[in-house]
Parts: sequence; structure tokens; C-alpha cells
Amino acid sequence: MTLGQESSLIERAGGRETIEWAVDHFYDRVERDPILRPIYPQDLRPGREKLKLFFVQWLGGPPLYSERYGHPRLRRRHFPFVIDEQAAERWLALMSEALAAAGIPQAVRSAIEQRLRPLAFHMVNAHQDVPREPLGDVWME
Ligand code: HEM
Repeated sequence: MTLGQESSLIERAGGRETIEWAVDHFYDRVERDPILRPIYPQDLRPGREKLKLFFVQWLGGPPLYSERYGHPRLRRRHFPFVIDEQAAERWLALMSEALAAAGIPQAVRSAIEQRLRPLAFHMVNAHQDVPREPLGDVWME
């Protein structure tokens, strides 16, 4: 943390290791979840690693995701997966559990969850006619 600057959410959460632990824990829950598991691809490993890169960046750490994949364009990148409101709620619930299990302080969790909620609902696309073709590891501008 630089003097005179507010610390980033990632610092307040406990650093990169804590965030990566939380994402791993989140994915372990996705693996067992009857609503979310069918939405995700067979192999959960690539998504697990991408979400770690993205979370570090999104919480104020180095831009690890964008260095590899370009602009996040998250809504666009979720088009291949049919996501409804129930899936968004479940995603948020599992992430809240994972952040708590990682030992992130309550105030920091609340701040993260407040930012996650609109983003998760922005991903809902089940009622729209969007292109569903797989995108893979595409670079986006
Ligand atoms: C609303 C409920 C959500 C569902 C059901 C969902 C589901 C998925 C699925 C199925 C994938 C593909 C994984 C793969 O290709 O292996 C994915 C990728 C990803 N998700 Fe979500 N997601 C949701 C919300 C979010 C939110 C809120 C964020 C950000 C905080 C997020 C960040 C990402 C990222 C960064 C990727 C990787 C994108 C890429 O480079 O292909 N997702 N998600």
C-alpha cells in the first residue's frame, strides 16, 4: 500500500493468496451444485484459473486477466452459457460462502458482495437471443 492511498480490496481481503483460495473453494462448491454444475463445461480447470486471474485484477491487483485475454467483456464471454436469475443468485450465494470460508473480514466481504451483485445479474442472458457458440480463450479488445 502506497502512503496516502486507500488500500485496495485485495489488500484488505488478505492478498492474492487469500483470493485464490476463495476462488478454489468457490469452484469446489460449483462442482457439487445442482443448479450451477450443469451450466459449466465438463472440465472446470480452465474456468477456475481464469476466475482467479480476473478476481485479482477486479479487486485492485495486477491486471493478470487482461494481460492474457484482453478486455474482460464478461457479459459477452458468458453468452455461450444459459444463465438465469436463479443461477445468478446461486453464484452469489456460493461466492459469499467461499469469501467467508477464506476468512475475509465481514466489512470487506460486504464491499465485495455489493459490487458482485449487479455484475452477476448483468450476466443473466437466458431470456435473450444471444449467440451461444463457444468462445474458448479468445482475445477481446
Ligand atoms: C451469474 C452467474 C454466473 C454464472 C452461472 C457463470 C458461469 C460461468 C461459466 C459457465 C463460465 C465458463 C467457464 C469455462 O469456460 O470453463 C464462466 C466464465 C467466467 N466467469 Fe462466470 N458466471 C457467472 C457470474 C460471473 C461473475 C459475477 C463474474 C465476475 C465477477 C464471472 C467471471 C467469470 C470469468 C472471468 C470467466 C472466464 C471468462 C473467459 O475468459 O472465458 N462470472 N462463468
